[in-house]
Amino acid sequence: MFISNIKIDGFKNLSNVNIEADENINVICGDNAQGKTNLIESIWLCSGLRSFRNSKDKDLINLNKQSFNINISFENNFRKQIIEYSLSKLNLKDKHIKLNGVSLKNPSDLFGNLCCVVFTPEDLLISKGSPENRRKFIDICASQIKNSYRKVLSQYDEILTQRNFLLKNIGIGKSSIEELDVWDEQMSRLGSYISVIRYAYTKKLNIFSGRLYNEISQSKEKLEIFYESSVFDNLENRSDYNGEMANEYLLKLKNSRHEDIKAGFTTIGVQRDDLISVINGLNCREFGSQGQCRSVALVFKIAQAYILFEETKETPCILLDDVLSELDSKRQHFVLSRISDMQVFITCCEDIKLKGNKGKTFYIKDGKIINR
Ligand SMILES: Nc1ncnc2c1ncn2[C@@H]1O[C@H](COP(=O)(O)OP(=O)(O)O)[C@@H](O)[C@H]1O
Ligand SMILES: [Mg+2]
Repeated sequence: MFISNIKIDGFKNLSNVNIEADENINVICGDNAQGKTNLIESIWLCSGLRSFRNSKDKDLINLNKQSFNINISFENNFRKQIIEYSLSKLNLKDKHIKLNGVSLKNPSDLFGNLCCVVFTPEDLLISKGSPENRRKFIDICASQIKNSYRKVLSQYDEILTQRNFLLKNIGIGKSSIEELDVWDEQMSRLGSYISVIRYAYTKKLNIFSGRLYNEISQSKEKLEIFYESSVFDNLENRSDYNGEMANEYLLKLKNSRHEDIKAGFTTIGVQRDDLISVINGLNCREFGSQGQCRSVALVFKIAQAYILFEETKETPCILLDDVLSELDSKRQHFVLSRISDMQVFITCCEDIKLKGNKGKTFYIKDGKIINR
């Protein structure tokens, strides 16, 4: 799948952008603060996810304009599709989103159409940073191949918020401990389901990243990925998330009630789980060198793209925001060679020489595409 045309106006500093994209490589070149990441962000938004920079909706609209409009055409061998996305300052609650001319209620309804893999410099630290980033990574990956998973995640989050609120109230004597029952039961079923999905994805990730890491390290190092559950000792061959697994989860929640009340939040559950990368037997989080961590991040993103292709039979669109310049030439070559049959958008400050003059380069200045 590839994007054939992008039109953007009023999204942050972008103005009258109209790009006929190359099916293969697109380089977006410009100085700092000219709008390169904004362009990547607007494509990402059309994949149905929230801004990867956590921008607020109102900050997405140009300071001096009333609204933004994004229009993306993308196609595969079978058909051409169009996403229209606009938002006005007059009504920030009401995003106007259309897929092939049909209005959609929520941005998340776009999910699963224009599939993207985004890679930013912050991602390079995924194996070192906080578990939250790794959970977010796996949740995005898993929901790209299973749309319904996103709803379960947001239901779980809602229940977690309610339960934590209740824990604080119990702590100050405003509520009674029995009131936890109703939340714990729902949490157990949803949490068990999330564990099953994440575990299954981790197994796939382990296979693909293991293979890729073997290549990037020239067979010198072995990478293994594990899902670390705070609830289940073993997730292999388990799938009964409405029955046996939920009961086990419930028991753990009940047993930790007193600790939870003391802490004022829920101390066990999928919100505490982690994705562990182990290189040659050592946990990358504690022992990984900067180079190893970067390689892990690279293979994660490439694996994400490969798994998407395996599951959906569509190649995703790869968005590399400022990462190539962060990598040595060996790693640069590795990434580009592994995604050579996918469409990629690469942002950078300096012109990149494209091998065999493949692809297109666009120059961006002050939010506009310019000739150079
Ligand atoms: N809502 C907005 N309205 C106008 N300009 C904005 C808005 N949000 C961000 N910008 C501008 O966008 C520019 C940064 O764009 P960005 O895409 O991050 O640059 P880079 O080319 O370095 O990736 C800054 O000049 C910033 O002032
Ligand atoms: Mg940038």
